[in-house]
Amino acid sequence: MDLMEYQAKTVFAKHGVRTTVGEVVHTPEEARAAAEKLGGTVVVKAQVLTGGRGKAGGVKLASSPGEAEEKAREILGLDIKGHIVKTLNIVPAAAIAEEYYFSFLIDRANRNYLCIASAAGGMEIEEVAHTNPDAVAKISIDPATGVDEAKAREIATQAGYPADVIDAVAPEIVKLYEVFLAEDATLVEVNPLVKLKDGNVEALDGKVSLDENADFRHPEFAEFADSSAEDPLEAMAKAKGLNYVKLDGSVGIIGNGAGLVMSTLDVVAYAGEEFGGVKPANFLDIGGGASAEVMANGLEIIISDPQVESVFVNVFGGITACDAVANGIVQAFELLAGRNEHVSKPLVVRLDGNNAEEGRRILDEAGLAGLERVDTMDGAAKRAAELAAK
Ligand SMILES: Nc1ncnc2c1ncn2[C@@H]1O[C@H](COP(=O)(O)OP(=O)(O)OP(=O)(O)O)[C@@H](O)[C@H]1O
Ligand SMILES: [Mg+2]
Repeated sequence: MDLMEYQAKTVFAKHGVRTTVGEVVHTPEEARAAAEKLGGTVVVKAQVLTGGRGKAGGVKLASSPGEAEEKAREILGLDIKGHIVKTLNIVPAAAIAEEYYFSFLIDRANRNYLCIASAAGGMEIEEVAHTNPDAVAKISIDPATGVDEAKAREIATQAGYPADVIDAVAPEIVKLYEVFLAEDATLVEVNPLVKLKDGNVEALDGKVSLDENADFRHPEFAEFADSSAEDPLEAMAKAKGLNYVKLDGSVGIIGNGAGLVMSTLDVVAYAGEEFGGVKPANFLDIGGGASAEVMANGLEIIISDPQVESVFVNVFGGITACDAVANGIVQAFELLAGRNEHVSKPLVVRLDGNNAEEGRRILDEAGLAGLERVDTMDGAAKRAAELAAK
């Protein structure tokens, strides 16, 4: 889960990182009131889960409450790379002397943590890395020893931060590492980390990605979830405990096991080429032990996606045998009928593996409307793509 800037700065502040959370507002009038409260010149900042806000006109200075209201009116509703601005962060304008880049992230390839830091901050770090790679330091962090004051000084020096900020920046780096560890983050990025005219160092911006696998350790994260930014189908699937990812195609996919579902997506996309580029509509792994209820919940989500034209149920029977899955499908149709929802889209089912014969017999005898059985994965993918193209 990605945090908005004001949320990231709230987390920074909790760990004592120098930052200014300011005011969070949703209307131009609230922006004016916030500017009145803060006094002096303020910065009106769009809160969206994407980068490049400044370039897109989402970060503006305002020297009076009236101007803050005006800038807020300009920024609210702005479309920044497909994200509509609904929330603003109003902060006092900082007296910036210099801007730096700083981040901690997970280095998956090296099974390690990585710090990326540069004295060239404020602008897009990807751009700096491209045009002037030597200006970007990459420092590997051993999780066993972490980041203490000495390591922080080493990082700051390697990053090329000027000698006169090392004393002020080192403790901030230690605290940012604490944020990274304690909050189970996969990314903590500060761009810009600034030296103020008074010599202090402050995080003026913040990007934090939290590891959702650690949600159980952080009940407080629930308040950060931006349900308006989440896909409604994904939110519904999450509420039902399903592993569902929305994609843009038209063939709904249900399978058991992440590996099988991944290859089903590939096979459907491949088969779909013959029918004008038909593609999978989602990833949905109902896992082992697929009960009728899980199957019904999965089908319910898939058929409520208006883009879906056909559904491909691809099951390889293992510990959960095909007859159990077939019974699950039959009962799922009944459950959905009971919820006044009918499977209105054609369904192609491929059952193979343990007890496949028995499973196929159950489906055939049930004679479910709109359900077709195809016994090979390629054949079923082709039929599902063909039905979606009709
Ligand atoms: N509180 C502030 N006071 C003065 N200037 C600021 C303040 N906050 C931001 N700025 C200026 O605006 C620039 C852009 O702000 P910020 O880094 O928050 O957004 P961004 O980098 O454009 O967006 P993103 O980080 O999403 O790509 C900063 O580099 C800084 O120069
Ligand atoms: Mg920034």
